[in-house]
Amino acid sequence: MTIRAAAVAGDPILIDFDRFGRRHGTRPLSAVRPRSLPRAGLDDKERGTAMLDEPGPDSVPGASAAAIRISGLEKVYRAQSGQPPMRALRGVSLEIPRGSIFGLLGPNGAGKSTLINILAGLVVKSGGQVEINGYDLDAAWRQARLSIGVMPQELVLDPFFSPRQTLELQAGLYGVPPSRRQTEALLEMVGLADKADVYSRTLSGGMRRRLMMAKALVHRPPIVILDEPTAGVDIELRELLWNEVRYINDAGATILLTTHHFEEVEAICDRIAIINRGSVVLNGPMDEMLAELDRKELVVRLAEPCSEVPAAFSDLDAYLQGDRTVVIGYQPTRTRTVDLLGRIRNSELEVEDLSTREPNLEDLFRTLTREPGTDAAHP
Ligand SMILES: Nc1ncnc2c1ncn2[C@@H]1O[C@H](COP(=O)(O)OP(=O)(O)O)[C@@H](O)[C@H]1O
Ligand SMILES: [Mg+2]
Repeated sequence: MTIRAAAVAGDPILIDFDRFGRRHGTRPLSAVRPRSLPRAGLDDKERGTAMLDEPGPDSVPGASAAAIRISGLEKVYRAQSGQPPMRALRGVSLEIPRGSIFGLLGPNGAGKSTLINILAGLVVKSGGQVEINGYDLDAAWRQARLSIGVMPQELVLDPFFSPRQTLELQAGLYGVPPSRRQTEALLEMVGLADKADVYSRTLSGGMRRRLMMAKALVHRPPIVILDEPTAGVDIELRELLWNEVRYINDAGATILLTTHHFEEVEAICDRIAIINRGSVVLNGPMDEMLAELDRKELVVRLAEPCSEVPAAFSDLDAYLQGDRTVVIGYQPTRTRTVDLLGRIRNSELEVEDLSTREPNLEDLFRTLTREPGTDAAHP
């Protein structure tokens, strides 16, 4: 009841679908993408008044540029049959800037779903502060909840409802009046227009996931949260899902997602955070992360054993591996590989073999989330 009342009073319509195409107009989108989605039945007059009833985030006193601000977040799950209490989040602080696509990475059990479920109101936090869209999760939970659409990791769908009924029901729960619903446009966006009236239980896993995505969008939340959206989804559908994520981001929504697919994270996210055992171990803009990875290694295997790094390399970031292999670390943006090769040629050293090693985001992730006492090189 209260949710409905609040939603009618001021569901903040912040996704401006009209902006789509301006930032990434040349990006290929799936063939199912409807051109009509941008408006979804909302005329400019409605759009103008939709935000009047309740202050939007920009007019919230002291509101920041952050879509989500988390500080010192703690979660301790109560002890369960024989198990000790589980401290799933240990003082997590994160800021997710408006308009970003933010990737939350971490191994299984790191606490990603716990964090997302706290934002979604499905798990009660044990400590710390959360602000969503300028609304404090404790003091203004209703507005905070209305500001986000969540696609949870677990697929929760009523098997006997059709996709259309599922979206209509969800819109009803959020108090979206029929004139402002966008059921058809959403069905088309996720490629389910031709399955609109079948039982959801007959949908494939990928289709269910995409229906869950549409479900998260019915109230046009300015912030969309996706927990492992591509888990168990084949490559083709994954591509479609990422297109949809880009699409809603282009339309103005902030995206927070978790995933295990590093190449995709590199391609789609503009910021990432890595979380491990309930703590944030790395957090920053994607381009800085990649700059961080501006490191290559030249591995030189010498014909003769030696006891220390040969003088020719002593001014470099070099170390001895065994007694015949010298590993030289360098930044490809500053040092060219051929220059290093020139130095080797000019030295008196006899070289048996040469190779280069290049770390990627996945290496960084493994290094940061390694179990204590294990060797990353030989897991
Ligand atoms: N409801 C729960 N009760 C007790 N422990 C839980 C519960 N949910 C998650 N956990 C534990 O909290 C930790 C973090 O889990 P989760 O947030 O699901 O991690 P992730 O999504 O990163 O895989 C894990 O050790 C998990 O077993
Ligand atoms: Mg999870």
